[in-house]
Amino acid sequence: MKVLSDLDECRAWAGDRTAPRPRVLVPTMGALHEGHLSLVDLARERAGDDGEVVATIFVNPAQFAPHEDFDRYPRRLEADLALLEGRGCDLVFTPERPAMYAPDASVSIVETAIASGLEGASRPQFFPGVCTVVAKLFHLTQPDAAVFGEKDYQQLAVIRRMVRDLDFPIEIIGGPIVREPDGLAMSSRNAYLGDDERAQAVVLSQSLAEARESIQQGLVEVPTLLSRVEERIASQPLARIDYVAGVHPDTLEPIDAIAEDGLLIALAVFFGKTRLIDNLCWRRNVAGAG
Ligand code: PAF
Repeated sequence: MKVLSDLDECRAWAGDRTAPRPRVLVPTMGALHEGHLSLVDLARERAGDDGEVVATIFVNPAQFAPHEDFDRYPRRLEADLALLEGRGCDLVFTPERPAMYAPDASVSIVETAIASGLEGASRPQFFPGVCTVVAKLFHLTQPDAAVFGEKDYQQLAVIRRMVRDLDFPIEIIGGPIVREPDGLAMSSRNAYLGDDERAQAVVLSQSLAEARESIQQGLVEVPTLLSRVEERIASQPLARIDYVAGVHPDTLEPIDAIAEDGLLIALAVFFGKTRLIDNLCWRRNVAGAG
């Protein structure tokens, strides 16, 4: 497995017209867990025997607000590289912050529809930071396809929109949420949780599983579903809800009744200082939906 951190070296490698194709990219911020590695597996599948799997590891300062966890975000480069190599990754790009952003960098990419609610409302700097760095990583690595996790459902939707609207010739692939045995969605931030917080955080996936059951039993009123999810979460004393929202799964606009296309329930909840997100995407008329 090749590891590059220099931008010029990356550009030279990426621009080699004789390189194996398709090239499939998995952008990450490191601190890798099985959720990330499942995206690498999807990339490997998409790349096939002839293609190439590329991962990037970069904790992107532009997507963190000053009060957020950029400084303490876990960094474990050596362990991450070993995990990536073990899953058949061919190349890892690990740029340094100063090379990625000029001190007077003044251009960023802003998506103005899908990004406005949910995470965008709670973390206004997040999607401009994500879109800008992902666009830069696309330019630097020139992939044919890129894989993003559905745990960050809104991020995936925003990136699909960016790729469509800015004509990136890149196929975007979503990878299903990977959960711990008790249901907690895997996240690098789970490492911040104290024992009590970790035990109570399981309520997030439980509340979503119960919502799925209610939908399957015929409940279509979104406000009722959301109050049940909120009540369930509030039963855990360490949980502090940031948002619990029911939106259209494509437009991400709030809806009151389950739409023809289904429903996304998305939530963000603090346990202590740790903010966790999770979601349930329920699609009508799709085999195995939910
Ligand atoms: O999902 C993430 O880890 C990040 O938001 C991403 C897409 C790597 C951009 O920094």
